[in-house]
Amino acid sequence: MSQVAMPEFRYDFGNSGIDADHSALAMILEALEQVCDESAGADCRCDVCPEKKTRSCHGLLKDLCGRMQALLLEHFQREHELMNSLPRSQTTKAHCERHRRAHVSFSTRYNLAAAKLNDCQPAIGARELESLVLDWIRGHALEFDAELSALLNRPVGDRQRRA
Ligand SMILES: [Fe+2]
Ligand SMILES: [Fe+2]
Repeated sequence: MSQVAMPEFRYDFGNSGIDADHSALAMILEALEQVCDESAGADCRCDVCPEKKTRSCHGLLKDLCGRMQALLLEHFQREHELMNSLPRSQTTKAHCERHRRAHVSFSTRYNLAAAKLNDCQPAIGARELESLVLDWIRGHALEFDAELSALLNRPVGDRQRRA
């Protein structure tokens, strides 16, 4: 597998907790790209690799998948706590409901994908897991996390007036 640049999605919304989590997620996604080197070939066929190498790639993939699962869980909890700190208003209520639902829905998709990794060829599994998370976070961050950060960053007087 050729060297790929750091996965890109926005993680500079101006909230230190959210931004740090997104940055940590980008690092795990980058590590997923290192699960397989050239040996599996362009079509990711792990059956051409020695069994020991395939086992080692599989172990790395499972480890990264578990770390990402834990990070996502922690990150969603952080964002939920931040949502709880917002002043109550129709705007914040609507945002929080939609945002929470988006997290729950993605958690389900991620857990299903993680369960499938047991039987996968690691080179293929790593690419699929990376695409799943990257495609999701790119859209989610722009649609929801940017809005949450903007709501959190509103000046206190403005927040109270509109609450
Ligand atoms: Fe979010
Ligand atoms: Fe987020």
